[in-house]
Amino acid sequence: MFKRSDLATLIDSETLTKRIGELGEEISRDYEGKDLAVIGILKGSFVFLADLVRAFDIECTVDFLGLSSYGSATTSSGVVKITSDLTTPIEGRDVLVVEDIIDTGLTMRYLLDNLQTRRPNSVRICTLLHKPANARCEVPIHYKGFTIDDHFVVGFGLDYAEKFRNVPYIGYKR
Ligand code: IMP
Repeated sequence: MFKRSDLATLIDSETLTKRIGELGEEISRDYEGKDLAVIGILKGSFVFLADLVRAFDIECTVDFLGLSSYGSATTSSGVVKITSDLTTPIEGRDVLVVEDIIDTGLTMRYLLDNLQTRRPNSVRICTLLHKPANARCEVPIHYKGFTIDDHFVVGFGLDYAEKFRNVPYIGYKR
């Protein structure tokens, strides 16, 4: 375990706010006139999602899907359990999945296959962070905040052992 004072900043709050604003504008343009269903993946996406949807100037609904990955604290096993499901159907709708980070891609691969069985009109992924160093499968990322090196990062919704989600920047243990 480490402490908040052990964290070094990787992406500061100002940089996050600016980039999320740009993503919000881009998504607003792309989904103008569409039936947008935003789905946040819990728990990590809650901070990013709250900022992202407030940067939209279009209408959307927001729902959440709880996922937990069976693995050690810092590596993904690819075996995923749905801990809390969507509250409304997505059939025929334009779905935007909002995720905190794509690392191996295994969680998102599982999720995309699961969502397709619910017959949405379209599905796109928006992730705040992408760590391509560990990619283990192909995942189409339509909207990406930042590509990062192979650090284990926390803050802005991301945790280590459930802590640090409330840190207002992306940090790593120095
Ligand atoms: P993937 O299946 O390896 O792509 O991992 C996706 C999930 O693992 C994310 O939604 C996070 O919950 C977690 N994760 C991966 N890398 C990190 C990290 O650097 N910090 C915190 N959580 C991470």
